[in-house]
Amino acid sequence: MKPEDTRPQPRNTHRFSRDHDFTATVDGFDEIHELFHDLRRRCPVAHSNDMGGFWLYTRYEDVAHAISTPKVYTTRVQNIVPKVASTGRRPPLHLDPPEHTPYRRALAPLFRKELLDEWQVKIRDIAARLFQPFIDDKGGDMCRGYSYGLPAEVLAEFFGLSDQDARKVRDQGQEFTIAIEEMDLEKIQATSLVLYEAAGRLILDRKETPRDPRRDPVSAMLAARHNDAPLPDDLILGTVRQLLLVGIIAPTTFIGSITIHFSRHPEHLALLRDDPAKIPAAVEELLRLYSPYRGFARTPVEDIVVNGRHICQDEPIALSFCAANRDPSVFRDPDTFRLDRSDEPDHIAFGRGPHMCMGRDIAMIMITATVELMARHVKEIEIVGPVPMTTWPEYGPLSVPVRLALVD
Ligand code: HEM
Repeated sequence: MKPEDTRPQPRNTHRFSRDHDFTATVDGFDEIHELFHDLRRRCPVAHSNDMGGFWLYTRYEDVAHAISTPKVYTTRVQNIVPKVASTGRRPPLHLDPPEHTPYRRALAPLFRKELLDEWQVKIRDIAARLFQPFIDDKGGDMCRGYSYGLPAEVLAEFFGLSDQDARKVRDQGQEFTIAIEEMDLEKIQATSLVLYEAAGRLILDRKETPRDPRRDPVSAMLAARHNDAPLPDDLILGTVRQLLLVGIIAPTTFIGSITIHFSRHPEHLALLRDDPAKIPAAVEELLRLYSPYRGFARTPVEDIVVNGRHICQDEPIALSFCAANRDPSVFRDPDTFRLDRSDEPDHIAFGRGPHMCMGRDIAMIMITATVELMARHVKEIEIVGPVPMTTWPEYGPLSVPVRLALVD
């Protein structure tokens, strides 16, 4: 006789059937936020059958709790929605503390203050060079012409890659992202393997010719010791592969989103031009409004009940940073750009807890440099073509063709 399944049975525990909570595919720049508001109101722990089936947290409190509680919510089983064919474990994201800690510790010196001061100069130079054609031509595609290039060039500097290798990694990264968006499993596997090969070549090179481990991430991983032993080869490979991609996608789409924001609100460009001291607060507010991730995920290590809904062990839960950052119980007037939020909790666009974004400071320099350039040079932005959007796990446009009215 078949043993009885004594685990909680999710189907009958809530007035919403888990089959029909929501359809995940939503087109357009604003529509996903409308969907998240609706779900947060009527079903804050929702289930979709799309993309293999997943739960979705839309409340700030639930998302913040999940990312801060790795004993219950692990990243080891599935860390994004949709799940893609896994080609290997990639620390630090794919491990829980304490296993993930040696990888973060090895990388931490790469983000120290002294290097960030150097990044300020380098990133501003790259940003100004990439933005110049937009001034010369009074327009262009802010994603394809600018925000694809900026993080890729920064990554090339970060890893000490040749221009040619940096371009290859960026192109493969783009292919990989598009493959995920199209859920083309064969292409996901193939492009992921190419990125693994690039990571493997870098490791070989640094084994032969080590660089300063306080400046070179691959040499840092190779020099790291945990309990007096080197880190395992396969996990060094996974970490380098993770780093090759993790910092590229979010800045690309996020800069597209802020271009759309400023096209709708030229008065915000004017405000920042007149008072550049407001730019840091504006960058935080833009990150809150247009957080570029909706589908980083966790799975519970045991069956749990959240808001009356049973979630079984290992079922994926998308933690929507996009939705959490517009939760009206935390942020007043949540869809509005406001610079007077100092009494409200911090947004969680960079996550929180043990997996909080390691590249936050570098990302902030890229974004701030971009907003400064826009505020200094641009009076008005007109969108002059279609704006295709990314889909899960990201949020934001892939292309934003613009015509610019420049400051006299
Ligand atoms: C707008 C830009 C960016 C945003 C919004 C962003 C956001 C995030 C978020 C939300 C996480 C946590 C994921 C989770 O908890 O599951 C994360 C992790 C991470 N990010 Fe970023 N990121 C950005 C740019 C970058 C850049 C430029 C780098 C590298 C130079 C980077 C490196 C990392 C790494 C290494 C992790 C994994 C940390 C860990 O698992 O311990 N990110 N990022």
